[in-house]
Amino acid sequence: MRETGSLEKILVLDFGAQYAHLICRRVRELGVFAELAPYDISPDQVRRKKARGLIFSGGPKSVYDRNAPLPKQEIYDLGLPILGICYGLQALVFQKGGEVVGAGNREYGRASLKIVDEQNVLFQGIKSPTLCWMSHGDAAESLPPGFSSIATSDNSPFAAITSGNIYAVQFHPEVTHTKEGSRILANFVFGICGCERNWSTEAMVDDALEELQSKIGPSDRVLCALSGGVDSSTTTALIEKVVGKRLYCVFVDNGLLREGERERVERVFRPRLGRNLVIVNDSYKFLSKLKGITDPEEKRKIVGREFILSFERVSRKLGKIKWLAQGTLYTDIVESASSGVSRNTQSVIKSHHNVGGLPKKLGFSLIEPLKDLYKDEVRKVAKTLGLPSDLIYAHPFPGPGLAVRIMGEVTNEKLRIVRIASAIVEEELRLAGLYEKLWQAYACVGDDEATGVKGDSRAVGHVVIVRVVESVDAMTADWTRLPYEIMERISNRITNEVSGVTWVTYAISSKPPATIEPQ
Ligand code: XMP
Repeated sequence: MRETGSLEKILVLDFGAQYAHLICRRVRELGVFAELAPYDISPDQVRRKKARGLIFSGGPKSVYDRNAPLPKQEIYDLGLPILGICYGLQALVFQKGGEVVGAGNREYGRASLKIVDEQNVLFQGIKSPTLCWMSHGDAAESLPPGFSSIATSDNSPFAAITSGNIYAVQFHPEVTHTKEGSRILANFVFGICGCERNWSTEAMVDDALEELQSKIGPSDRVLCALSGGVDSSTTTALIEKVVGKRLYCVFVDNGLLREGERERVERVFRPRLGRNLVIVNDSYKFLSKLKGITDPEEKRKIVGREFILSFERVSRKLGKIKWLAQGTLYTDIVESASSGVSRNTQSVIKSHHNVGGLPKKLGFSLIEPLKDLYKDEVRKVAKTLGLPSDLIYAHPFPGPGLAVRIMGEVTNEKLRIVRIASAIVEEELRLAGLYEKLWQAYACVGDDEATGVKGDSRAVGHVVIVRVVESVDAMTADWTRLPYEIMERISNRITNEVSGVTWVTYAISSKPPATIEPQ
């Protein structure tokens, strides 16, 4: 990962909790930069990253499991403040010579936290008892030498423990169910680690510009993969500030785009970029490679590979392109875990095309100035850079495009259905004033067919699924309880206006266990 300048930071060591990144978000919300790091990071790497403190995340394993993730012993010799959370507490107790026991001590859900030492910095400003959220099987049975308990719950005499500048809690301060969770994290970050509040939108922009300036040489030419979404548009605007006319943007029409997408990009970016905006139509190439392919991961990889080939062709024509810029986000990296920080502990959820499909030997060097940021942070940066608000608040659209909104083989028939049906969903939600409050809203389609009646005769047609979700960062999402009248209008319009469709269904699965995109 890139070094975020001279910013102070908290490193969150990832022991495999699906939501370790939530800890990062909570710390960033406090105004301090935080990033995930592998649980077995070396002390040298920690030093290079200029960490002011470490947080050990939770995780699904038991310290007694074979291959249980444990931090390197020398990490403790750095003398940095540490906060262990859940499994993080158990790992710490285990390594420091205490005892951890399994089963029988299970504790799930809300628990009352009784603070034993109200003077302790970790609990500054918090009244005892307070509600916390527990979710653990194993627990500490005896503490390592020098440790003492500073809070208890009905089932845990060691709900919070400390020794010097090492702290650990059995509960989860990062979840909102822990009433004072944010204050506990703030007490650790400010009171114990001594960090200052210096992570802001302006800091993010300055930091990204500083990083670009130091990387890109004075005559280097940069090619930016522009899709017209907020991520690539923000990447474009940032890089343009550093290299001006040495920036070339390529928009690839891959045949998997939404209705009117290419025209939108022309309208917004032609005036800004002039001849430096290159639009190529490679839809035939993408669609012919996807012919007969039904496996979602395979589709993603094909699209990723074809994108790179398109960029390489454009770059050969333009000549002397040194850098390829992409709008990869932090969440893309976390979810494509095989290339991300959590590769040792999490499984790959989906290979996001921009991180999953890159060939080993790339003809360019890659720059991803947003790869430490979450979507809401990128939107703030985009606002600071003066991008138009309809672009900033446009719903995310996956890199592999409609290929992942079509289940089974990508065919022209299914592309047509998804395009028109999605445009109807978006239009109705805009009319209802709901569009900007939602994370994503679209239609998808597979090979299922159902019987309908059109006119006076029986008709067999496709089943279209409408998906509307709310989310903060796409790592979790809830399906939207749309008013019935809006659902009815959307359903009627799709069956009336999209030929070949007989049924419309509404997806009522949240993430987890579902994902946002159907593939
Ligand atoms: P899932 O479906 O994994 O999606 O819940 C989470 C968010 O990521 C977007 N997404 C992608 N974005 N390349 C991207 O650039 C991809 O391959 C990709 N797959 C999913 C998705 O639209 C949602 O916002």
